[in-house]
Amino acid sequence: MGFHIPGNPMSQSCMRFEHNTHCRQYQHEMLGKMRFVISAFFFLMMFSYTAAYDPLDPNGNITIKWDIMSWTPDGYVAVVTMHNFQMYRHIISPGWTLGWTWAKKEVIWSMVGAQTTEQGDCSKFKGNIPHCCKKTPTVVDLLPGVPYNQQFSNCCKGGVVSSWGQDPAASVSAFQVSVGLAGTSNKTVKLPKNFTLLGPGPGYTCGIAKIVPPTNFLTPDRRRKTQALMTWNVTCTYSQLRARKNPSCCVSFSSFYNETITPCPSCACGCQNKNNCVQSDSKLLSMVGINTPRKDNVPLLQCTHHMCPVRVHWHLKINYKDYWRVKVSITNFNYRLNYTLWTLVVQHPNLNNVTQVFSFDYKPLVPYESINDTGMFYGMKFYNDQLMEAGPFGNVQSEVLFQKDNSFTFKQGWAFPRKVYFNGDECMLPLPETYPFLPNSAHQNLLAFSTFISSVIFLLVTVW
Ligand SMILES: *[C@@H]1O[C@H](CO)[C@@H](O)[C@H](O)[C@H]1NC(C)=O
Ligand SMILES: *[C@@H]1O[C@H](CO)[C@@H](O)[C@H](O)[C@H]1NC(C)=O
Ligand SMILES: *[C@@H]1O[C@H](CO)[C@@H](O)[C@H](O)[C@H]1NC(C)=O
Ligand SMILES: *[C@@H]1O[C@H](CO)[C@@H](O)[C@H](O)[C@H]1NC(C)=O
Ligand SMILES: *[C@@H]1O[C@H](CO)[C@@H](O)[C@H](O)[C@H]1NC(C)=O
Ligand SMILES: *[C@@H]1O[C@H](CO)[C@@H](O)[C@H](O)[C@H]1NC(C)=O
Ligand SMILES: *[C@@H]1O[C@H](CO)[C@@H](O)[C@H](O)[C@H]1NC(C)=O
Repeated sequence: MGFHIPGNPMSQSCMRFEHNTHCRQYQHEMLGKMRFVISAFFFLMMFSYTAAYDPLDPNGNITIKWDIMSWTPDGYVAVVTMHNFQMYRHIISPGWTLGWTWAKKEVIWSMVGAQTTEQGDCSKFKGNIPHCCKKTPTVVDLLPGVPYNQQFSNCCKGGVVSSWGQDPAASVSAFQVSVGLAGTSNKTVKLPKNFTLLGPGPGYTCGIAKIVPPTNFLTPDRRRKTQALMTWNVTCTYSQLRARKNPSCCVSFSSFYNETITPCPSCACGCQNKNNCVQSDSKLLSMVGINTPRKDNVPLLQCTHHMCPVRVHWHLKINYKDYWRVKVSITNFNYRLNYTLWTLVVQHPNLNNVTQVFSFDYKPLVPYESINDTGMFYGMKFYNDQLMEAGPFGNVQSEVLFQKDNSFTFKQGWAFPRKVYFNGDECMLPLPETYPFLPNSAHQNLLAFSTFISSVIFLLVTVW
């Protein structure tokens, strides 16, 4: 039984199972090892959920830079630039919200490219009324298509900011602010305090503002360099634990060699909302407006045993002589959210030898120079970079071809990922003891048959 891919260099590939006859003895050993793996797994889970630091993106942060461009009679004009230096965590719609506390009695005379959500009490001003008089202003980006005179470079994207790894050019957001009743020199100006960032939900913690060497700017013709009068930076980092109590995605597995599908763990994302979900065959679904996002971003989930808004499915599809092939699909179970951008991060030892990724973009992440076992997948622009709301179009999928690593095996769940992140949040994996087992006596025919069966099942899983 051979599998042939037209035009593929491995047309002589065959289905081959190493050490079939040793399988039985092996499953014994495996159980012992699994106990260890399970405890290690829980330890790692606890660890990764409490640490604010992301081991797959150790330098990831959002840096907010204030550049004072000019002093005014009662303050200054600053350009505030937000750089998302995270490799795979972007800010999706409805976008960022930035807040801070003024050190003195500063007011915002005007803003370009953003606005505060509230003006506050400006009653003591006569004539010229400030844009915002609040001690703790809350700033949001403008929506696309605002009049030209309200725009600023890198503004007006509804607060949507791409991750650095996916699209560095779109990983910046900026606005201009004119501050009054403030210091008018670098000796008297006081730095704002208590920065807060929602992106769009909680999870970010910002450090204190620090004066850094002034930024240099090149003129558009690149022939003259100018510099800010004063610059300060604020760094914000993300912690999933601070963002939410439960994971927001889960992972399921299947394989060509075993027809059992390993589902997502039950209540992987918490079952508190079990009563607010909608059956996929429900009459409610034909109601107009069910797909309308709510102001508070409360999701409306399709009822599942895992209650996750997103599921990632990893299917071991084909075993060739020197290669192996996986099918990956991502399903959205939230009727009220279109993901305007998405990323999938996978950690697997064979990612050092990815030969081809069929319909996603792929980029290796090498957080530690010596280890190349992590990569990010994301949608192709204008093709599948959006993950639509739950329903018939609420999934994206691709296939990945690996060249077998020296340690390649189907045993002990080696072929399944070690870690999976969707949109920068770690997904809950099934318990190792539930991974698809290699069959006890593996006849090639049986194997081929189950390849077929599991492809059918896979299709059903992704369609329903
Ligand atoms: C300040 O932030 C900018 C980006 O916003 C970054 O390039 C620069 O390295 C930062 N400076 C320091 C000292 O952190
Ligand atoms: C403040 O400005 C003076 C020149 O006017 C400069 O020498 C000094 O380095 C500046 N200090 C800071 C913190 O930027
Ligand atoms: C900053 O925030 C902390 C905690 O939210 C608060 O205790 C403190 O008073 C705030 N500082 C200022 C200057 O508002
Ligand atoms: C998702 O996008 C589609 C097409 O752009 C739109 O019809 C639908 O209302 C959107 N759904 C949500 C929840 O925003
Ligand atoms: C990591 O592996 C990919 C193949 O998946 C390869 O293209 C890339 O060059 C490798 N990077 C390093 C630093 O080894
Ligand atoms: C890919 O796998 C082959 C076969 O095991 C190996 O020789 C090669 O070094 C691997 N490439 C990388 C980048 O690890
Ligand atoms: C398939 O894997 C399951 C565990 O997920 C195991 O219980 C079952 O025996 C396996 N089926 C075969 C045919 O080996």
